[in-house]
Amino acid sequence: MLIGVTLLSNLAMSAAGFVVVLRIIPKFKDMFIKAGLKGVDMSKPVNKEIPESAGVISGSVFLIIMFLFIPVPFIQYWTTNTSEAFPHHEFVELVAALLSICCMLFLGFADDVLDLRWRHKLLLPTMASLPLLMVYYVTFNTTTIIVPKPFRLFLGHDLWLGPLYYVYMGMLAVFCTNAINILAGINGLEVGQSVIIAASIILFNFIELFGECWKAHIFSLYFMPPFLGTSLGLLYYNWYPSHVFVGDTFCYFAGMTFAVVGILGHFSKTMLLFFIPQISNFIFSVPQLFHLVPCPRHRLPKYNKDTDRVEMSCVMFKSNQLHPIGAMFLYIFHQFGLVCYRQGLGEDGKYSECTNFTLVNFVLKVMGPLRERTVTVILLVLQVLCSGLAFSVRYGLARVFYDVV
Ligand code: UD1
Ligand code: MG
Repeated sequence: MLIGVTLLSNLAMSAAGFVVVLRIIPKFKDMFIKAGLKGVDMSKPVNKEIPESAGVISGSVFLIIMFLFIPVPFIQYWTTNTSEAFPHHEFVELVAALLSICCMLFLGFADDVLDLRWRHKLLLPTMASLPLLMVYYVTFNTTTIIVPKPFRLFLGHDLWLGPLYYVYMGMLAVFCTNAINILAGINGLEVGQSVIIAASIILFNFIELFGECWKAHIFSLYFMPPFLGTSLGLLYYNWYPSHVFVGDTFCYFAGMTFAVVGILGHFSKTMLLFFIPQISNFIFSVPQLFHLVPCPRHRLPKYNKDTDRVEMSCVMFKSNQLHPIGAMFLYIFHQFGLVCYRQGLGEDGKYSECTNFTLVNFVLKVMGPLRERTVTVILLVLQVLCSGLAFSVRYGLARVFYDVV
């Protein structure tokens, strides 16, 4: 009963968050431009500058909602003479989770303002996840995992991972934040994918409310609806044609929020299942991310003014300067039809060109040049399909690998 009231008030606050974000973003637009927080929309006929980092608005509204919400789940302990002890563990989990998200929002904003380097993009989420790992240590500290059935012959029924498990959780935060940030570059994609992941997590939490670990899923349900509400407000302005860009601020903030609920809700593996497109895009991008194949500053699709469509974007390089391992990746990806590759370019024929290693480019390779909005819609439909796949793996295939589901 009380849980129902708590969740309902959370839902009401989330709806309020949606309305507030919807109302305040237009008011802040000029302020952002004045402060130099702006970017050029590269896939439009006229290169207009629009406000960047609007994620800081939706993120701040999210935090305000969550701060106001902090007392709600614990009201019974203050208002009635309940015999139960105050659940300090749950309280500290909530506060530390918010601390990590708050840190990430701040560091993401710093990245947008200062345009930090690649190595910082790895360092910042690691630092921001420390409060989270600390609270995991003092509250739960289970680092033993159940081994999937096929491996039990070698590894036994369960495996103690100890510090390795903390490394895994830290890396999860780094992965979630960056994976969203690199599946980007067309209007509406960054927030769109986050909205679908959040909706999938909410659905999963609801299903699991009837299971054994319902408490951990309620914890996740405190965070996800306000995130969904505020992000939907942002999506309204970021949808094609974008009136604001979400910035790295939003990508970091969203990734961290997912990592937080996945870790403290004890469903990080299922959460990763909702990241199938992001994982594919990340693995596909590895040769460019590690500079084995040249990586330009922007890998977003190329806009063609004459047709008003976006096409695959390419990167050109001197053939003899390609890293041998990069050349191997390029060969394999080309053989599998994932990228286009041309040699013998330039006046002296010493240059080569390949398409950038991104999922967006791959969609354009399969479908041909498309309107920008169509590409976003295709990628979001793919995200929904992958969520469907994630649910069938979680509830179908999991039986093959584990005893109980
Ligand atoms: C990541 C990608 C980069 C991609 C960029 C676009 C990697 C390693 N990095 O870099 O390839 O080009 O995101 O988001 O994969 N922009 C648009 N239309 C959009 C969204 C963004 O034109 O719908 C442009 C704007 O100029 C905007 C800029 O991209 O100012 C934002 O890029 P930023 O988020 O700073 O790039 P990164 O996250 O570093
Ligand atoms: Mg970005």
